[in-house]
Amino acid sequence: MYRIAHITDLHIKSLDLKGYKKQLYNLLDDIKRRDCNHIFITGDMIDNGEEKDYHALIKIFNEYGLMNSDKISVTIGNHEIYGGTQAAEDVFLFPTRCQKTDYNSQVKLFYDFFKPAFEGADINNEENPFPYCKILFDKIAVIGVNSNAHWSKLRNPIGSNGAVYDEQYKKLSKILESHSIKDKIKIVLIHHHFNKISESGSSMVHSLWLYVERRTMKLHNKKRLFKLFKEAKVDLILHGHTHISDSYNRKGSLFVNSSACVIPFTESKLRKYHIIKTPKDKNRLTFDLQLINL
Ligand SMILES: [Fe+2]
Ligand SMILES: [Fe+2]
Repeated sequence: MYRIAHITDLHIKSLDLKGYKKQLYNLLDDIKRRDCNHIFITGDMIDNGEEKDYHALIKIFNEYGLMNSDKISVTIGNHEIYGGTQAAEDVFLFPTRCQKTDYNSQVKLFYDFFKPAFEGADINNEENPFPYCKILFDKIAVIGVNSNAHWSKLRNPIGSNGAVYDEQYKKLSKILESHSIKDKIKIVLIHHHFNKISESGSSMVHSLWLYVERRTMKLHNKKRLFKLFKEAKVDLILHGHTHISDSYNRKGSLFVNSSACVIPFTESKLRKYHIIKTPKDKNRLTFDLQLINL
């Protein structure tokens, strides 16, 4: 049996004032204990888009021997591109910082640091690897998508909204429809969510966050992605971004979110992630999903 953990939204930064590194160690220890063969990570791995954050994260990944393509598959989140507010006073300055962000350079920076995870993958190009396709264990097609929207004063003021633009969408369709992955389990890695966030069980802080979410965390033009995923018979779409861990069916596809694995935005504050299990027989394209409570 292959066991693949899905984790996301680790928000590691060099100055670790909130103890997220300790939570990540605890998470990686749990994954190791459960004999996982691989880890899928769907963005916001670092908090503030800076080189020093990548160094802090990769130092930890190296301790677990994770920095290679057989061990991890990754995609990019809004925090790798735009960073996040680091102090209360930053809130007012943050839209200007997002506006000044060089989007393409940040994507390239992500790729430069995580190049080992792309080895053997069919990437878009060396400047921007997305979308990419990687075959895992000769039975899983992992398709990585960049769902981060460009900055816009009205549509994306703090960089947290999502969009998959035409160029990437066309390439994604081509990958998903290609004959070479027809007999594989198809798993898409993408940062943004596809469900509406329910307010039930949310804390006060979470409610405030939800209010912001409604205005600033939308994935635009989801409709055609739903259609594509269904038509291409994508088996599983893994994402993060909401800091809630759950799984749900929408428009004929199965979505899994493990973004409460380090920093949960739920009242219970329980940290959870998922493990995908599939038989080693490459002709058996079945899998089970397990929700793990830390
Ligand atoms: Fe996040
Ligand atoms: Fe995010």
